[in-house]
Amino acid sequence: MADLFEKCDVFMQRMRRGAGDDFDKLSDVFSRVFPLDNCRPHIQMRGRELLQVSTNDYLGFALHPEAVAAARAVTDEHGAGTPLGARPLTGTTALHLELEEKLAKFRRTEACAVHNLGLGAMAGTIACLVGRNERVFVDSYAHGCVHDGARLARGQASWFKHNDLADLERQLKECPLDQPKLIAVDGVYGMSGELAPLPEIVALKNKYKARLLVDDAHGTGVLGENGRGTAEHFGVEDEVDLHGGTFAKSFGTFGGYMCGPKNVIEFIRFQSQGYVLTKALPAAITAATIKTLELMQRMPERRKKLWDNLNMLRAGLRKAGLTIGNPQGAVTSVWAKGMRALPTIYELEHTYGIIANLVLYPAVPINTSIVRITLSCLHTPEDVQRVIDALAEIHARDPLQDGEPAEISTALADNPV
Ligand SMILES: Cc1ncc(COP(=O)(O)O)c(C=O)c1O
Repeated sequence: MADLFEKCDVFMQRMRRGAGDDFDKLSDVFSRVFPLDNCRPHIQMRGRELLQVSTNDYLGFALHPEAVAAARAVTDEHGAGTPLGARPLTGTTALHLELEEKLAKFRRTEACAVHNLGLGAMAGTIACLVGRNERVFVDSYAHGCVHDGARLARGQASWFKHNDLADLERQLKECPLDQPKLIAVDGVYGMSGELAPLPEIVALKNKYKARLLVDDAHGTGVLGENGRGTAEHFGVEDEVDLHGGTFAKSFGTFGGYMCGPKNVIEFIRFQSQGYVLTKALPAAITAATIKTLELMQRMPERRKKLWDNLNMLRAGLRKAGLTIGNPQGAVTSVWAKGMRALPTIYELEHTYGIIANLVLYPAVPINTSIVRITLSCLHTPEDVQRVIDALAEIHARDPLQDGEPAEISTALADNPV
């Protein structure tokens, strides 16, 4: 009789086969131990200085002295983990309410619920909102927490092909007009850096009387005139019903949130497992996030600097013939055939002193892999050039990918994660 745990060995054997002679490199990459300040552009690791282009501290706020001071003040006086209660019990403090009020104002929504994780904010909201006889339509490349919310919901869930409006409309059309519906998408897709076509999705939402949730974990702080994200970028903020996100990227801290109408946020406070059944975001982090939200609005020059870096990186990589698709958020993915990204990541570290992220199946379609680069505004043009030169050299020696971006998009659409 088959054993439940058998699949674990099967999985590792498959990884071993896929990596082939590079399996040791896979172990090496996955066993990297990072220093505590790993969001700095230059880190000390494995006995030397390395350039890291692998965290989501896009605006460089993680180590901003004002944010650190805010967290330290709370920790010194009240401890690191306080308030140690779930939000509806003993976990709500004046700091949580202050952050919620400021975020709702920033997002231009009526209300906000601060969570201890973006994952819980997204999954919990979708799961509790989509009740029996209701339905959620999910982009097949949305973040895993959006998928989880759809799977946990009592209602029906269906997945449309990534950014495929015709497929979304076909599915919406099949659904009775009076059946309550939610469309759930990412603002910026974390693997490809592509944006959701929000204006067109909004048009469909209105035509078929659905509600729209956008997980803008990657877009907030990066896109839009004021950093309010993908919806601001497209000028459709008021048409998005629920704005979700994380603090663990542009805010440089930790935790997540859901912003929206007051009645929905109140419902979440009673019904969402991701809010009710888990301890509150620690007050020290809440205080730091209040500060970085303020910094985000006070320091727009950081966003401009980030975009200068991104534009330079993308122009350089394209010039070197690397396939990066059409990224419009802060993630830049260099697509590679098979597991070719694995030896590239290894070589980047060991030969060029650069730490980038390795992304393999199932986070991307089978037979592809990604060298994922996330720059921050703190990187210098010299840092960016170093990444371009290293990848150009590796690619010239042994091409990472000979397909065109269009082929990659087809592969993505055909192989939903
Ligand atoms: C698009 C997206 N949504 C949600 C999350 C989850 O956020 P958190 O890490 O705060 O749980 C992430 C984090 O990687 C993300 O990229």
